[in-house]
Amino acid sequence: MTNLLSTPTTSALIPQLDVRGGRRLEGEVKVSGAKNSALVLMAASLLTEDRLRLRNMPGLSDINGMAEILGALGVRSERSGDSLELQASGLSQSSPPYDLVNSLRASFFCIGPLLARLGVARVPLPGGCKIGARPVVEHVKGLKALGAQVSIEHGVVSAVVPGRGHRLTGGRIHLDCPSVGATETLMMAAALADGETIIDNAAQEPEVADLAGLLIAMGGKVRGAGTPTITIVGMPRLHGADYQVIPDRIEAGTLLLAAAITRSTLRVAPVIPEHLGAVISKLEEAGCRIVPDGVGLTISAETIRAVDLRTQPFPGFPTDLQAPFMSLLATASGTSVITEAIFENRLQHVAELQRMGAAIRTQGNTAFVEGVSQLSGAPVTGSDLRAAAAMVLAGLAADGTTQVQGLQHLDRGYDNLEGKLNAVGASIVRRHA
Ligand code: EPZ
Repeated sequence: MTNLLSTPTTSALIPQLDVRGGRRLEGEVKVSGAKNSALVLMAASLLTEDRLRLRNMPGLSDINGMAEILGALGVRSERSGDSLELQASGLSQSSPPYDLVNSLRASFFCIGPLLARLGVARVPLPGGCKIGARPVVEHVKGLKALGAQVSIEHGVVSAVVPGRGHRLTGGRIHLDCPSVGATETLMMAAALADGETIIDNAAQEPEVADLAGLLIAMGGKVRGAGTPTITIVGMPRLHGADYQVIPDRIEAGTLLLAAAITRSTLRVAPVIPEHLGAVISKLEEAGCRIVPDGVGLTISAETIRAVDLRTQPFPGFPTDLQAPFMSLLATASGTSVITEAIFENRLQHVAELQRMGAAIRTQGNTAFVEGVSQLSGAPVTGSDLRAAAAMVLAGLAADGTTQVQGLQHLDRGYDNLEGKLNAVGASIVRRHA
C-alpha cells in the first residue's frame, strides 16, 4: 500500500511576479489601448458584414479570448501589431460556445449585436465573479423594451425578435442603475433597430462614448454618449470603419499610482485627462503634483497624505482603481476611509495587504486604512485583475521582495505591466514557482 503522504505531489508550477521593493522609478511609460473599450468595439463588428479595423488595440488575454469567441460565430479576425481587423460577413452562428463564454464575461457583449443583426441570439449568462454577482437584469429589460422576447433557462439567455423581418423596434429605456455593459449592449442593439431609442440613466464612462464614436464611424446615428441620456436612431445597415481605441484610463491610473507609491517622478502617456478627473483630483489631494502636457501627465510625489474615497459611476472615482489606490494609502501618513459602493465584494485585497503589514480594518464595504511607514514583502495573491495590480504596486514600495500570484487575472487587463515598470527602474521578474 503506497503511503500517500510520501507521494510527491506534482503541483503545477504557478506563475508569479517577484517584485523587489524600494526602488525609485523615472522616465516615461506608455499607456496601451483601453481593454474595456476594445472588447465592446470588437463585439460591434457583428453589426456589419463589412471589414472593421480597430487600432491601438492592447495585447491582452481577454482580447484573444474575445477574438476566439467571435471566430466561433463566424467572424474572421486578423491581428497585425496593435491593429485588429474583423469581418462578420460569414456570420453563421447566433450562439457563442459555452466553454469559451464561461471564461470571458465580456462575451455577453455579443447578445445585443447578434439580436440586431440576426433577430436571434443565445448567449450563456456571464455569471458572477470574485467581485460580485454581476447581474444582467438591465440588459435583458432593455432588450425586451426593444421588442425582443427574452427567456433565461439553464443558464442561457435566449432572445428572439418575433414576426417578420426580425428587426428590433426602437423604444424608451430607463436603466435602474447606470450599468456600463447594459448601456453598451442596448446601444448596439438599437443601432440597427427600426426607429429611435432613448436610454435614460445611461452610463457615462468614456468607453461608452468610444463605442458611440465607432457606431457613428460605421454610419450609425448616436447622440448624448457621455451624458445620462443617449439617443440612437436605428439604421437599415452599418458599414465598416477604421477606428482608434482610446487610451486605457485604468492602466494610466495604475501607472500614476506606481509613481506615487515609490515617491517618484514619471511621465505617463498618452492620457486623456478628462477620463481621469476624479483620480487626478484624489492624487493631488494626497499630495502628488500632476502636470499635463497635452499628450500625457507628469506626476511627482514626495510625501503622501491620507484621503477618503468612495467609488461611484463615472465621472466619480472608478471602482477599478479602488484596490490600486488602497495600496498607495496603506503607505500614507494618516488614516483613509475607502468605500466600495459599486461592487458587493471588492475588498479581498485587504487581507493580502495586511499580510504585507498594512494596518487596515474593514466594516461592510468600507475599509479604514491607517498608513504605515513601511510595508514588508510577502507572498500574496491577486483575486481579480485590479487586486493583482494593487499587489504589484504594494510590492514596489515594500521592504524586500513580494511574490505576487494571480497572474491569470493580471494578464487579462494589463499589457506587459512588469515590462513597462522595469523599463523605468523597477525590478520585477516573472517566474514559475
Ligand atoms: C464594466 O463592467 C467593466 N467591464 C468593469 O471593469 C467595471 O468595473 C464596471 O463596468 C464598472 O465601471 C467592462 O467594461 C468589460 P456594470 P460591467 O454593469 O458592465 C450592477 C475591470 O476590472 N448592475 O456597470 O459588468 C452591478 O452588479 C472590470 O476592468 C446591476 O445591479 O459593470 C455592479 O454592482 C471589472 N444590474 C454595478 O451595477 C445590472 O443589470 C456596475 O456594473 C447590471 C449591473
